[in-house]
Amino acid sequence: SEFLNIAVIPGDGIGPEVTAEAVKVLKKATEAADVRLVLTDYTLGAEHWLKTGETLPEETLSALRNHDAILFGAVGAAPGDTRIPSGLIERELLLKLRFSLDHFVNLRPAKLYPGVPSPLAEPGEIDFIVVREGTEGPYVGNGGALRVGTPHEIATEVSVNTAHGVERVVRDAFRRASERPRKHVTLVHKHNVLVYAGHLWRRTVEAVAQEFPNVTHDYLHVDAATIFMTTSPSRFDVIVTDNLFGDILTDQAGAITGGIGLAASGNINMDRTAPSMFEPVHGSAPDIAGQQKADPTAAILSAALMLDHLGLSEAARRVEEAVESDIASRDEMTDPRTTAEIGDAIVASLA
Ligand code: NAD
Ligand code: IPM
Ligand code: MN
Repeated sequence: SEFLNIAVIPGDGIGPEVTAEAVKVLKKATEAADVRLVLTDYTLGAEHWLKTGETLPEETLSALRNHDAILFGAVGAAPGDTRIPSGLIERELLLKLRFSLDHFVNLRPAKLYPGVPSPLAEPGEIDFIVVREGTEGPYVGNGGALRVGTPHEIATEVSVNTAHGVERVVRDAFRRASERPRKHVTLVHKHNVLVYAGHLWRRTVEAVAQEFPNVTHDYLHVDAATIFMTTSPSRFDVIVTDNLFGDILTDQAGAITGGIGLAASGNINMDRTAPSMFEPVHGSAPDIAGQQKADPTAAILSAALMLDHLGLSEAARRVEEAVESDIASRDEMTDPRTTAEIGDAIVASLA
């Protein structure tokens, strides 16, 4: 039988709680697929930094490269925690992993499963994916500050967009669209203001579209995209967008499809030159950590994205179906369940 060699980074806060449930599901799903699962835990995150001063040592990064994929929980301190400089763990661990392992496709599906309450009065059918660029944009740390603390302080944060980086993610979005029933790509940007990057993204979309004659495409400025995501989300099929717009839009996409506890993501290296990494869209949720209150569904659906990426599409589909049937039977008011109870129920319906 086949081997899967998976690195697990549970992280901080609810990260370890939701990851434990995703691991249970992975074990069950791989067992059924006759795949030998080998898991290796890596202790990293804000708590680890407080104890050791380490964010992501080079040896750890090298070791992570030897796995087939990485399952990631969440990292980060509580917003009010002054013991850790803001952004240190996010930048030096999470973003460093995405950049070093060249996770250029940040795939974030948004699907309203049957039986899930949406905050929208008339949500309609919601089933789209956001292909968020993962290695460039304003996330690269290309900035600085002058005259800090004076009335003349100047802070810059310069977005980097390369032809190579934009083209590969746009082509990925068109390829994914070509395999979906509606075959439609929406570029979301803000080319009326961000003219240089906007021009590159638009030209790239027009050029790549020539390779996919069956895929239609349109364009929305990001501010208008947030309107349509609230008023008519069923218009979206595949959204392709830059790193920061994609970050913001996918929290909104999570909210309209039943909440952040359900939103999954994959940080994918489509060239397979390094392992891809799968994680919930949400963070470490310090407000509910350690209480078994977190919904592990986002972590479990992220594990399904991992199985799919690793070629186990049948196992991935079975996990998604198990989640779907669990979700359909939920009644939060009368039946509050712990994190582990939700995980166990999904494992049971897989069996
Ligand atoms: P958050 O996603 O952690 O929490 C936002 C709200 O959603 C909170 O009220 C939380 O209780 C709730 N929530 C989140 N996940 C949930 C789940 N599975 N079930 C039920 N409720 C859930 O965002 P935040 O509060 O802005 O960030 C907290 C920390 O996490 C910060 O340090 C931030 O930088 C970090 N963060 C990390 C990641 C990541 O590791 N990928 C992502 C986002 C934020
Ligand atoms: C996410 C998070 C991260 C991001 C942060 C924690 C760096 O918000 O995964 O959406 O902005 O990408
Ligand atoms: Mn985010």
